[in-house]
Amino acid sequence: MSQCRDFPSLKLISHPLVQHKLTLIRDRATPPILFRQLVKETAMLLGYEVTRSLPLTSQPIETPMAAMTAPLLAQPVTIVSILRAGLAMAEGLRELIPSAREGHIGLYRDPETKQPQEYFRKLPREPGCVILVDPMLATGGSAARAAAILRQQAEPEALRLVTLVAAPEGMEVFARAHPDIPVYSAALDDHLDDNAYIIPGLGDAGDRIFGTL
Ligand code: PRP
Ligand code: URA
Repeated sequence: MSQCRDFPSLKLISHPLVQHKLTLIRDRATPPILFRQLVKETAMLLGYEVTRSLPLTSQPIETPMAAMTAPLLAQPVTIVSILRAGLAMAEGLRELIPSAREGHIGLYRDPETKQPQEYFRKLPREPGCVILVDPMLATGGSAARAAAILRQQAEPEALRLVTLVAAPEGMEVFARAHPDIPVYSAALDDHLDDNAYIIPGLGDAGDRIFGTL
């Protein structure tokens, strides 16, 4: 994991398996069934890094051999997917943290303005530590809006964003709105094109996951 000089809140995950899988994800020849599977697997690996900072408490237990005080997660964990594409990442995180609660925020980008439009919101009342997932941080509008919604229920220290590919433009927007929320990403790409797609990126994540191209 490395810190990014331009964006102090960005943690880039350079693990070889993450980078290998991301290359397969980016490849236009990768079909939806494999794309979805790879997004799930990569999210699991990113999840290992993002959960490193989860607070622990301790509890007295008895093993079959002796009494001991043993560590346990101090708070519930909630995985929040930004629909649709976040769902494939949530699948991977769910395997890592099967006891996690789940929330959903439905956002789509208006094709003209590129601004996020909210169409769905269902979140647990007491989310504890929140892992917000969306594979793409393009203009940053969707993630920044979702984080603003989550801040109504959780302290910023309890929030983290996990993404596969971030654009510098989106990182700038997100970090300005939420400098106190860490962002974990497999890559920081080059720039956005005129349609606010990430270059080189991986195309439209939702369409590739759900075969709606
Ligand atoms: C994609 C992606 C993000 C958003 C990123 O979703 O999954 O949510 O775009 O763009 P931004 O950083 O410029 O806001 P999209 O709006 O295409 O919806 P979908 O997941 O339903 O396809
Ligand atoms: N949404 C995507 O799915 N891909 C991009 O490159 C930008 C926004």
